[in-house]
Amino acid sequence: MTPTPERAHGILSKRSGPARSRAHNQPAAEDRIWNKVEPQPRQRASFKWIEPSVLRDFVAEHTDAHRLCTTDDGWVERFGSDVLISVKTEAARERLMTELHLWALAANFKISRVFLRHLPKQNAEREAPRLILGDANTPLQSVVTERFLRYAIDFAAGYSVGLFLDQRENRRALRQMTPATLLNCFSYTCSFSVAAGSVGTRTVNIDLSKKSLARGRENFGLNGLPTENHRFVADDVMEVLPRLARKGERFDAIILDPPTFSRARKGRAFQVEQDFETLLLATLEVAERNARILLSTNCSSLDERALEVMGRFCLKATRRAGSFRSQPPPVDFPPETGARTIWLTLR
Ligand SMILES: C[S@@+](CC[C@H](N)C(=O)[O-])C[C@H]1O[C@@H](n2cnc3c(N)ncnc32)[C@H](O)[C@@H]1O
Repeated sequence: MTPTPERAHGILSKRSGPARSRAHNQPAAEDRIWNKVEPQPRQRASFKWIEPSVLRDFVAEHTDAHRLCTTDDGWVERFGSDVLISVKTEAARERLMTELHLWALAANFKISRVFLRHLPKQNAEREAPRLILGDANTPLQSVVTERFLRYAIDFAAGYSVGLFLDQRENRRALRQMTPATLLNCFSYTCSFSVAAGSVGTRTVNIDLSKKSLARGRENFGLNGLPTENHRFVADDVMEVLPRLARKGERFDAIILDPPTFSRARKGRAFQVEQDFETLLLATLEVAERNARILLSTNCSSLDERALEVMGRFCLKATRRAGSFRSQPPPVDFPPETGARTIWLTLR
């Protein structure tokens, strides 16, 4: 009997602790596309500010957007000379502000502005960051650099400012794969596509938000990349995938980084725990024979192991074969504090 997506999901939807292990034992032939950084030992997330040597490494590789600190009740990110503090509590806000100043003094880091945002329990309570220190007349839009690529940041655009820092190593891995074509589902500001576009990849970007896609075009422009070879589709991924499949379109690399929950224009809800397998099954219809697919989620009840088991289930259901491999977490993210991600390579 062909298993249904529901059956695999039922087994898998609970987070089951750190599960990076198996994915690191992969064929040496693939090693060149993966970051060689060894996985860090498990450590408490509390009060972890990056070391001066890490900051120096970021400077050396032309990256000025990264985490500065991760704690149990908040985190601090750098976007160029601006800093964004995200907190769950007032106590965390006060402590992180104090520590930030001490860290900046010790690291000889000049802060232009500090923004603050609260980490709400519900998506509906999300608010744009607000300026708490620095010149209120400076534009809220800026540009940051990640490994020589430029990305626009907008502190007024909403809860998220334009670049997800925890995907840095996956953007690098994608760039090193040099796929001919990329399908970037839930593309937001198209950062994955800019990374791939910089090595000549043709991309298709799908996002419900026209504004995010417009920001994506802007990111291409910031890097001097013409958008002729790139398509921007403002629509529901779940509707676009079958259309692409019917047209016979196939892609060498595919990014699946959906939100935990969203509602499309026609009212259709996407709930990652319920819908990820359906999404992956539809994605496999547009995947080239040796395609690489990034499975990624921020949903706290799904870990890498859950993503892998869902992936294996979908391979079985479609009679395809593949292997799974995870990236070590970015050096500025303590384990299990960023998105859970795993790469599936089809065979
Ligand atoms: C987590 S963000 C993706 C981040 C992106 N992968 C990156 O690294 O920058 C989720 C995005 O999915 C979009 N979105 C949500 N539901 C969608 C749907 N059903 N179809 C297409 N886009 C959707 C949102 O507008 C948002 O831009």
